Amino acid sequence: MPNVVVVGAQWGDEAKGKVVDYLAERAEMVVRYGGGSNAGHTVTTGGEVFKLHLVPSGILHQDVTCVISAGVVVDPAVLVEEIRELKGRGCPLRNLRISALAHVILPYHRVLDQLEERSRSKLAIGTTGRGIGPAYADKAARRGLRMGEFVDDARRPQALRSRLEAANELLTRLYDTEPLDVEAIVCEYDAYADALSAFVCDTAPLVAAAARGAKGVVFEGAQGTMLDVDIGTYPYVTSSHPIAGGACIGTGIGPTGIDRVVGVAKAYTTRVGAGVFPTELTDEIGHHIRERGREYGTTTGRPRRCGWLDAVVLRYSAMHNGLGTLALGHLDVLSGLGRVKIARAYKIGALITDSLPYDLAALEHVEPVYEELEGWSDDISGIASFDALPPACRAYVARVEELVGVPIWAVSVGPAREQMIVLPGRSAGR
Ligand code: GDP
Ligand code: IMO
Ligand code: MG
Repeated sequence: MPNVVVVGAQWGDEAKGKVVDYLAERAEMVVRYGGGSNAGHTVTTGGEVFKLHLVPSGILHQDVTCVISAGVVVDPAVLVEEIRELKGRGCPLRNLRISALAHVILPYHRVLDQLEERSRSKLAIGTTGRGIGPAYADKAARRGLRMGEFVDDARRPQALRSRLEAANELLTRLYDTEPLDVEAIVCEYDAYADALSAFVCDTAPLVAAAARGAKGVVFEGAQGTMLDVDIGTYPYVTSSHPIAGGACIGTGIGPTGIDRVVGVAKAYTTRVGAGVFPTELTDEIGHHIRERGREYGTTTGRPRRCGWLDAVVLRYSAMHNGLGTLALGHLDVLSGLGRVKIARAYKIGALITDSLPYDLAALEHVEPVYEELEGWSDDISGIASFDALPPACRAYVARVEELVGVPIWAVSVGPAREQMIVLPGRSAGR
């Protein structure tokens, strides 16, 4: 019963899409368990690049069922476009299923996301503007619209009108902005409902059955541990539970059904949007990483902030996710740096600590305590076995493993499936 959760161990964009695609090869099903179209998951295969936002990263495997589960917030406009694009590229999507319990992102969620950001002014979170926060807020306030109701022609018109009218009150009275055109939206969303209805069903029994099967399920996390609404760098976080536990909320499986949790991390750290980032580099090295790693957002195109690997963050992540193993990617990006650093602890005033402060405001004042290691200069992107990597690169991987206390299952030296290198004798539990 090899059911595996793939979770981002940092601030997102760790290459979860690539790892899910890799593991999906031998799975029966891939289940995306949280977030919405704020995610951008890249899968590179056969020289082609796919950027997925809502469709699970197993979709390029014809025999794998892909489920968008109850914890996801679905923007129908984005999903319809994503499906159209994938079909246009020869991906049939016969195996896509969408939970009837997943909440719907409507146009006012996007508008409110942007207005709320503007009103935060200097304290703006730097959201993706995709309506994620307002949609999860509606869900928690018990006034959200779910996919099952959305695709029901008898219920949708009234369900949309009442919500759009309430949103217009807010937009005009509180924000003093133009109201949305209710009838135009009702009409536009009829077409989306029509396009999506065939995919919507009760997905939990399907997931439960696949999880009992021999091939098992890969649960695909979105965002990253440090963006989790509870244990991330609040309030500079997203509004869902990217951590591994999120895979057990409404998918059809409980914690005892999970066999292994795979954390995905870059060999350095990146972050998009505002909020603390202790190991951030604003110098030439940060620039080197950004340009060599093409560190620009998959969803918004924003330049990602870049910095050294933070072992304190990874240990915190290992604890909250119960990481059984790590996939450490982007080693190729560190080539040519001469020396490389890893933060092994934080200095807060006179105190040295090797764990993340519980008061995250203290993170603003930490100074990373670095360990410096020898770098490597060779281009490693064509290397296919761990033993063929430069000794300094292998030593770096071994030191990360020691500092984090989690075995590294695989490393990667480039974006393609073939550039994943499994370490001798290691497995992701599949
Ligand atoms: P996700 O959101 O976690 O799925 O990650 P993203 O797709 O947003 O960002 C990861 C980016 O790094 C993508 O552009 C990948 O194609 C790319 N990538 C993945 N693994 C590697 C690697 O080992 N080296 C390099 N240079 N790029 C990689
Ligand atoms: P994937 O799945 C990186 C960040 C945003 C912002 C904060 C809140 O591709 O790793 P939101 O729109 O969710 O309200 O924004 O979270 N963020 C991500 N950063 N990767 C992501 O997804 C992200 N999804 C949200 O930049 O700082
Ligand atoms: Mg991404």
